[in-house]
Amino acid sequence: MNKKLNKFIDALPIPEILKPTRKISGEAYYEIQMMEFRQKLHRDLNPTRLWGYNGQFPGPVFDINHGEPVHVRWENKLPDKHLLPIDKSFHNLGKLPEVRTVTHLHGGETQPESDGYPEAWYTKNFRYTGPQFKTDVYHYSNHQRGATLWYHDHAMGITRLNVYAGLAGMYIIRDEQEEWLNLPSGEYEIPLIMMDRSFRDNGELFYPSQPDDSEENWPNPSVRPFFIGETNVVNGKIWPYLEVEPRKYRFRILNAANTRAYQLYLDSGQSFFQVGSDGGLMRRTVKLNKLAIEPAERFDVIIDFSKLDGKTVTLKNDLGPNANLDDETDDVMQFNVTLPLKSKDESGIPRYLTRIPALSENKVKRIRNLKLIGTSDKLGRPLLLLDNKKWMDPVTETPELGATEIWSLINCTNFTHPIHIHLIQFQIIDRQPFDLDRYNRDGSIIFTGSAKSPNPNEKSWKDTVAAPTGQITRVIAKFGPFTGDYVWHCHILEHEDYDMMRPMRVVEAKERE
Ligand code: C2O
Ligand code: CU
Ligand code: CU
Repeated sequence: MNKKLNKFIDALPIPEILKPTRKISGEAYYEIQMMEFRQKLHRDLNPTRLWGYNGQFPGPVFDINHGEPVHVRWENKLPDKHLLPIDKSFHNLGKLPEVRTVTHLHGGETQPESDGYPEAWYTKNFRYTGPQFKTDVYHYSNHQRGATLWYHDHAMGITRLNVYAGLAGMYIIRDEQEEWLNLPSGEYEIPLIMMDRSFRDNGELFYPSQPDDSEENWPNPSVRPFFIGETNVVNGKIWPYLEVEPRKYRFRILNAANTRAYQLYLDSGQSFFQVGSDGGLMRRTVKLNKLAIEPAERFDVIIDFSKLDGKTVTLKNDLGPNANLDDETDDVMQFNVTLPLKSKDESGIPRYLTRIPALSENKVKRIRNLKLIGTSDKLGRPLLLLDNKKWMDPVTETPELGATEIWSLINCTNFTHPIHIHLIQFQIIDRQPFDLDRYNRDGSIIFTGSAKSPNPNEKSWKDTVAAPTGQITRVIAKFGPFTGDYVWHCHILEHEDYDMMRPMRVVEAKERE
């Protein structure tokens, strides 16, 4: 885009909370339509053509009580032609219908039929369906602990474009544990759904996918399996501002970007008080000056504006020392502490939050060593693989129902991959560096340092973990409570699509011999 957009001139939208369409034998039933529409993302930009759930970008928020089951019909009402240019050779899936969708509840403990298996896609009104299609009415039991989850598209080979077009939203499960804690709530609890996007001067989304689709920042898009946008978008506005009262607020931050990892900080020098992560409340509050948040991770934080009456605080993204000076994505949004305090702030920042039993390494049934590998395809384009296998290779990760396993993610590539496993929440055991040069020469793994325990704010239930380059990241999980077909993958969507995703099948426990 050549046009310069001014920052902090649009108010942050608060995504709408969904109401059930109706009740079916006492249980909430929602009908949600994926559709194409236009929405104004910035004062000085024409309305942008987008895809979204119920015509909203990001999608409406589910706000659900723990243990209350819901049913959702995810209706595909999208046009037959994709919103974004499709390079059909990208993933060798050119024969599949262009517009296909399937919705996944990320972080959800979901039965396999409702998990949004990538091959369970379907087109508008089910004209065509993938091999695993069962139904578009999904069931979520919401029996897991309270947490900030999110839903997004997961269709085979095209997730990066569907999510980029707008198919993502937040899903909150609440439990009683939280009520005890007296965290900021109601209008003082706000989702911040962050992502980066690029635009054409006419306001349309820009996503480079064809080699001939050149824009200055994409000298050769066909060999760049990632996307980094020119602007930051929060809750559907580019660089918005939020007027706040001088008091504490709770923000549920979701990084819904395709590739970008954020390094968030406040220019006032203030700290974030993190109370929750992917799988809900942490054991104790962690005070942080910087939040490193990978794609798909959720950070539940409190910010205290009480001493900043009349001030402006910018939420910044640290681009690092090598950042390009023209890169404007060092800004995310602004908080203007301009509203009068309506009533005394009775909320608190508790030190202790909840109990999380540590999964014991003594109970481990199986250890899997899984390499994250970079190679290239026949055309010389980068191809990223999990354990050197493609999506189509037969399933190899087959944990038994109820079994505890350790997965060692051995990152042999040059960058961090956020690895996500469906169905379960895991705990991070540690990370240990190894000699990547040596690995590249002869394939041997020689440790170059001792194992480090995870960061304080990673000591909780997680479903997505940063697996840094040249390190082995170990996670531990108990697999269940369902058997069936799931997936695990890198959550950089460009990696996931090509071809850093693998099936995972939870199988019935074998009889004891
Ligand atoms: Cu956020 Cu497999 O998904
Ligand atoms: Cu998921
Ligand atoms: Cu990756």
